[in-house]
Amino acid sequence: MDAIVLLGPPGAGKGTVAEMLKKSTPYQHVSTGDMLRAAIKAGSEVGLKAKSYMDKGELVPDAAIMGIVGERLEKEPNGRFMFDGFPRTNEQAELLDKVIERIGGKLRRVFLLDVSRAVLIDRMCGRRICKTCGAVYHERNIPPKKAGICDVDGGPLVQRPDDKEDVVANRLDVYQRQTASLISYYEGKGLLYRVAAEKSGAETEKRIRAELGL
Ligand code: AP5
Repeated sequence: MDAIVLLGPPGAGKGTVAEMLKKSTPYQHVSTGDMLRAAIKAGSEVGLKAKSYMDKGELVPDAAIMGIVGERLEKEPNGRFMFDGFPRTNEQAELLDKVIERIGGKLRRVFLLDVSRAVLIDRMCGRRICKTCGAVYHERNIPPKKAGICDVDGGPLVQRPDDKEDVVANRLDVYQRQTASLISYYEGKGLLYRVAAEKSGAETEKRIRAELGL
């Protein structure tokens, strides 16, 4: 396995830049948030359990996350993966290290997307997603061609339940409490690369590709 991680607070643009990198590099986009939202939509046991945490902006327990990620990785031990929103706790990071060691492979780089709190709040509160295909827009920054309608499949655009202002504030606190320690974890391993991510997604994508030599 060959992997990279996109690390950063909610709203930093991880998913947006991952969708670009998916087209311009050999890495597959693995978003635990998207996997959980798909599980909720499918009404699976994992989805039902995850929903109560996600709606409040809390993290889903590590065991559930490692279950869905582990299943994905075991299917393709030689895959090239770009993790978005994973790992999110020290325990998840340590378990990922163990999985990589067991199936053989390398964590190549961890990209930290640096964005100020004010911009994060604006990005999350203005985000709209397609109810049917999940495509992501921003009402001002990255609007659809026709207001409220998805460019890809014509589905209606809605706000994510966890993008409401009170939940957004909790998600930022949860990031500081439970995820920000991964910055020093990966710095200590010499894997961290900081990317100033307040400019366009294309600019962030270009910097990441340059660092990867792709
Ligand atoms: P998840 O879906 O992973 O959410 P997140 O990490 O909070 O990240 P976001 O999706 O909010 O933001 P993003 O950085 O991808 O930004 P985006 O590109 O969309 O997780 C949701 C929940 O699931 C968690 O709260 C937790 O409960 C649970 N969960 C998931 N993984 C877990 C795990 N590993 N462990 C435990 N629980 C887990 O961009 C944001 C907005 O900005 C968009 O509107 C976009 O159009 C716009 N935008 C993006 N880039 C730019 C730019 N350069 N300029 C202007 N606008 C931009």
